[in-house]
Amino acid sequence: MTDPLVGRHVTLGVTGSIACYKAVDLASKLVQAGAMVDVIMTDGAQEFLWPITFSSITHRPVVTNLFDPQSELSMDHVALAKRSDVVLVAPATADAIAKAAWGMAGDALSATLLATEAPVIFAPAMDANMYDNPATQENVSKLRSRGAVIAGPAEGRLASGLVGRGRMLEPSALVDHVRIVLGRDGDLSGKKIVVSAGGTQEPIDPVRMITNRSSGKMGFAIAEAARDRGANAVIVSAPTALPDPTGITVVHVETALEMRDAVTAQCEDADALIMAAAVADWRSAEVASQKLKKGSAETMTIEMVKNPDIVAGIGGGRMVKVGFAAESEDVVENAQSKLLSKGLDIIAANDITSADSGFATDTNRVVLLDRDGGVTELGLLSKYEVGHRILDKVVQML
Ligand code: PMT
Repeated sequence: MTDPLVGRHVTLGVTGSIACYKAVDLASKLVQAGAMVDVIMTDGAQEFLWPITFSSITHRPVVTNLFDPQSELSMDHVALAKRSDVVLVAPATADAIAKAAWGMAGDALSATLLATEAPVIFAPAMDANMYDNPATQENVSKLRSRGAVIAGPAEGRLASGLVGRGRMLEPSALVDHVRIVLGRDGDLSGKKIVVSAGGTQEPIDPVRMITNRSSGKMGFAIAEAARDRGANAVIVSAPTALPDPTGITVVHVETALEMRDAVTAQCEDADALIMAAAVADWRSAEVASQKLKKGSAETMTIEMVKNPDIVAGIGGGRMVKVGFAAESEDVVENAQSKLLSKGLDIIAANDITSADSGFATDTNRVVLLDRDGGVTELGLLSKYEVGHRILDKVVQML
């Protein structure tokens, strides 16, 4: 298993909203993720953009007219409807939504939507009053009740000058919606996967804290991979600069004790726990309520107490437990002893010494060790791919 977009046919319907300019980036992101993208532009969309804008990104012809003798649809008007693994309408105007809700088929996009058996996602983009109008709301509910996904819209400043509900979601969020739809019957469908991420923060006083270099990227990428295989993915995250990913519940915590409580609660009905977080082993014995003063002393000592080991103290039973070992020497040996001492099913021995691996990078080098003695060296991969390889093993154990 890998990114569910790889090798899949996505039909992207682009309709006449100023948000069409974002559809260019969206098409590009879908292509970069490995999808084959067929674009259908309505007449309205062609008032904003030229077909060549899309065809130069997708390297495929753009459909602009149901009756164009040059178009594939003139020979088989439902060709895209049959070929699509998913149809995404982005931006979706009030007009396009109304036509789909009422089963109209007078243009290439409407006809494709009426004929397709593939899942359909609409990304509304319009003025807030148009979106809130009961007519649009009724049409949106009608589409939803027939199984369509309505992605967004977001709130914010609109082209009309109004501030309200009507902004098209950002392209990266829409790409994630496509992944979720394509992956929803995946091999983790119906499973709950809890992932911890980031570096815990242990306060000393209201100003200072002890933390580490974890960015949260590894944990977030594992959760995204689980989501893209149909899982109910939950992240328990220490503070990071990362936005909450689409379609994933994120529980925000700061300290190791808060992380323990949140992970324990989430694991009550979980199928697997993957601890990618860098949890502080120690915390300050006392947290000063006021800022500590520098004074005249040349040294300063903070008494530390041990934090509980979260992964060692949790669960067992049928839940699969995966840990990480961030190591700078004797990587595999040290990971092996943590696998045993923490009662894990799998551990990812993580070499943090090279520049393309470990903390804050987009790639990682890990060796997977499992409780039965299996050793799998993954080499250099994106953190998302590392997530998939760990999940391959989790699926086998579940
Ligand atoms: O977030 P990134 O910037 O992407 O970086 C990713 C990473 C390097 C942080 C990640 O890949 C990683 O290696 N995470 C584990 C880091 C770590 O704290 O390793 P450890 O050897 O100290 O702990 C071993 C395991 O026990 C880990 O799964 C850890 O989450 C868990 N642990 C540790 C201490 C503790 N009190 N409770 C725990 O559950």
